[in-house]
Amino acid sequence: MQLSEPEFQHIVKYVKDRYGIELGRKRVLIAGRLENYLLREGYESYGQYIEEVEKNPTGKEAGKLINVLTTNHTYFMREFEHMDYLKRVVLPWIMNVQRGKGRDVRIWSAASSTGEEPYTIQMVLQDFFSLDEGWDTQILATDISTRVLQKAKNGVYLEEQIRPLPENWKRRYLHEVGQEQYQMKEELREKIVFRQFNLMDEIPFRGLFHVVFLRNVMIYFDEETKRKLLDRIYEHIVAGGYLFIGTTESIGEITSHFQCLQPSVYRKVK
Ligand SMILES: C[S@@+](CC[C@H](N)C(=O)[O-])C[C@H]1O[C@@H](n2cnc3c(N)ncnc32)[C@H](O)[C@@H]1O
Repeated sequence: MQLSEPEFQHIVKYVKDRYGIELGRKRVLIAGRLENYLLREGYESYGQYIEEVEKNPTGKEAGKLINVLTTNHTYFMREFEHMDYLKRVVLPWIMNVQRGKGRDVRIWSAASSTGEEPYTIQMVLQDFFSLDEGWDTQILATDISTRVLQKAKNGVYLEEQIRPLPENWKRRYLHEVGQEQYQMKEELREKIVFRQFNLMDEIPFRGLFHVVFLRNVMIYFDEETKRKLLDRIYEHIVAGGYLFIGTTESIGEITSHFQCLQPSVYRKVK
């Protein structure tokens, strides 16, 4: 099946307008990831498929499109310096400001992919708050792809995926569920609320966050899209709250709202 230039441009525009993701130079990726599916489903052309997607932007075909076109690469212990920073600086601050105010910790993993990031955050939280009772450490994890969210909710990983985790975490937070397969224990899974959310949309979540992890997702967005997203996120962080972005990313020239504490670690100025 041939992906014509107008069909390619049509898909690129649709994905950019709706999800912010730039695919202008990803012709091979689009064709490679969609062709088999379209043939299997009996589509005669990419044009016919994209028409179907546009007819129902929240339907099955639109979901399929975003599920195949997003890049969901992630792994345990990625950019672990952020978790150290969380433990060393951010959680003591939250403990201090929230002790008399409901003991509520509000953290959002805003492009959580298959769950490695929010589960790692949750393990850090459980360790940190284990000695002090009564803290609500439930966190929010969102992604646009329902496929990765389902995987994250199940919390099942291969032995080689969990290999980088410290032994005491493996013992405490995972259990074997099959050959070379491990699952995050219920006590951890129930502390993460997984939701589909498009970062292009208005943020619907009630209450302000103490910390937002927005790591390795803005690389797909253009400057204007990033700026608007950061403005929206800024409005949903408490004064003094933190933002972590990917260590290879920078928001310095895009917004002056956040104070840069060190590369990839930002704070909402009071
Ligand atoms: C490379 S992963 C990053 C995972 C994790 N934060 C990390 O740093 O390892 C990027 C994730 O962003 C998600 N994503 C891309 N565009 C999005 C959008 N418009 N709204 C929400 N999530 C999006 C993708 O589905 C993908 O799972």
